[in-house]
Order: sequence, then structure tokens, then C-alpha cells
Amino acid sequence: MAEANEARVELHERWLRVYFGGTGDGPRHADFHYLWLRHNCDQDRHPLTNERIVDSVEIDPDVRPVKATAASDRNALFVHWGAQPEDRVSRYSLDWLRAHAYAPNEADVPPPPSDADALTLDAKAFASETALAGALFGLLRTRGLVVVRGYKPAGAVAPEDTEKLVDLFARSGFEIIGTHFGRIEDLRTDNTTNQNTDQLGYTDAKVDLHTDQPFLEKPPRFQLLHCITAAPEGGDNAVVDALAAARYLTHTDAEADRTLRAVPVHFHRKQKSFEKLLVSPILSGHDERDFQIRYSYFTMAPYRRPFNEMESWYRAYNRFAALVRNPAHQYRVRLEAGDFLAYDNHRMLHARTAFRGARWLRGVYFDPLRAMAATG
Ligand SMILES: [Fe+2]
Repeated sequence: MAEANEARVELHERWLRVYFGGTGDGPRHADFHYLWLRHNCDQDRHPLTNERIVDSVEIDPDVRPVKATAASDRNALFVHWGAQPEDRVSRYSLDWLRAHAYAPNEADVPPPPSDADALTLDAKAFASETALAGALFGLLRTRGLVVVRGYKPAGAVAPEDTEKLVDLFARSGFEIIGTHFGRIEDLRTDNTTNQNTDQLGYTDAKVDLHTDQPFLEKPPRFQLLHCITAAPEGGDNAVVDALAAARYLTHTDAEADRTLRAVPVHFHRKQKSFEKLLVSPILSGHDERDFQIRYSYFTMAPYRRPFNEMESWYRAYNRFAALVRNPAHQYRVRLEAGDFLAYDNHRMLHARTAFRGARWLRGVYFDPLRAMAATG
């Protein structure tokens, strides 16, 4: 194990952090983008004049090393870029990096978390439904997602059990919210119980990350997804903490963050007997009490931006989309019959993979009636 005062390096998605080690003056650590490092490679200098011979436009803006090491005894950071096309290793002196540090001693802002186990409860482990409800709604309020296993053992699961969950939510201070689909959604390919069945949720296709009902002035705050029948193949759920993603974006790409908070997007939902248009930015608010994301690639109207802003809009949107679509930043959950999950639809994005065979999830929306209204 390295000594505490040894130099070391951490690789992140688009940059690395160098811990300089030692006890001298200057920053304890500093962050450098891969593009900046590659642009400042010591080898791109003329051997006679030492002038730079490469301009930044010649470098892939998404360049990423395969490895980096720091060595106090050699006063150096070594960055291995892999074959591009030559197997290049750049060397930077730690003193030079200290002198040119443009992000010294930055705080840690982690990307969205992915440990679903920390948000998963085993219903059988609770002595009473009241005890389960306390844990369940605590996680939902603080973390935006809860997964409950074995609410009813597989094999004994009936669609009527969803009504028992509705009662549990009602007793805990929530009211059920009906939508243009109906009171309870039957997410299955042979849906006959809902209105407006012309939506991806009632097919077996992949549905990528989105929030529900972003075209409403006030989208329902919470959704419950209760698994009656798991698909024999596929149909896994993914949920992403968009509040954590927004904080990460604020820290790493202020321009993209400003754009997503300022640019109005047309959310346009048009179905057999329903149509609604709402114009709103994607992001608003900054903490658990006021944060809200509206995000749905399948209900967005064609973008209308000034010609000289369209490319910057795409850049900002795609930066955020790439962040949340990275599986390393997602809670990945496979619900079995009798399991359910619930999430905060103002904070979390959700998705499901394509599936084959019969699958039946029942979906219910809720708003806080009493218990959570005071806390947001
Ligand atoms: Fe959805």
C-alpha cells in the first residue's frame, strides 16, 4: 500500500485527479481533463525549437487513457494513451502540473449511485406492515427509490394484491392519482384494461430512461410498479438518480447545466384520445425539496432553437443523456413476481429492457397527501 504522502492518481470519466503527495506548498490534489493533458503532451514539441506542433482540434475531444500512474521519486505523472495509433505514454512533471493546476483541491462530487442493494428491503424481514412502511417510505423520501422483495411470495401473487399496496400507500399519507391511462396501469402486451394503449409501455420493446407524464403541469410525484408476472427473458428495470446526475453536471459542465435549466422544451403527448403540450426546461431546482426533472425522448416535439444555438443545445442534452445512460450510474433491478419498486418521478429516471414472453407489471401513481407534503 502506498504511503499517505506518496503521489497517486485517480481516473474519472473525462479527467483524472492527481494527489501530489509530500508536504510542500501548493494544492494537495488537482483535476485535469484528458483532452487538456493530451493537448499538453510533452512529445508534441519540435525537437529543435521545442514549440508545440499540434493544435487541439487535431485531438479526439473524447480521448481517454488506458492507464495513468504517478511516481513521487520521479516527480512525474505518466499517462498511457494506448494505441492511437502509436502506443504513446506522456510524462508530466508534478511540479509543472502544480504550477498549471486549474482545478486545485476540488470537492468530490460523485456520479449517480448504482448500489441497488442499499435500497432493497426484504418484506419477510419486517414484523409488521407498519414497520415495513416506515422503512419503505423513509428510503423513498431520502433516496428517491425503494425496492421491496417478496411482498407476496411468488406463486401466490394475485393482481388484487396491488389494491393492498394502494391501501398501504393511502394509510401512509398518499393519494392515488389517475391519468389518461386509467387508475391502475396494466403494463402488458395484451392490455385490455387501460385507455390510450398506443404507448411503448404496453409493448415488449425497450423503453429507455424517462420520467412519466412530463407534459402535465404537475406530473404525479411517485410511481409504484408491482410485478405480477416476470418475463421469462428480459424486462429488467433501470432507475437513475437525476438529482445526483444534475449535481455532477453542475460540477463538471456548467454550460450544459445552465442550458438544461434555461432552454424550454416542447413535451408533446399525442395519443388516440389524448393530447397535451407543455413547454418547460428539463431541469429545475437544486435539492431534495425543489428539484424536478422532465425527461422523455419519446414525447419531445422537434427542437426549435435559434440556428446558432442548436448545436450547443444538442451538446448539452447529449452530455446529460450520456451521463445517465451509463450503466455504471444506474440502479439495475430485476423484479420477480411479488416484488415491487416505487420511485420519485420528480427526481428519478426509469427504463426497462426489451423482453420476450408474458410480463405483467401494475403501475400506480401517487401524490403525497400528508406525510411527505411537509418535506417536499
Ligand atoms: Fe414510464
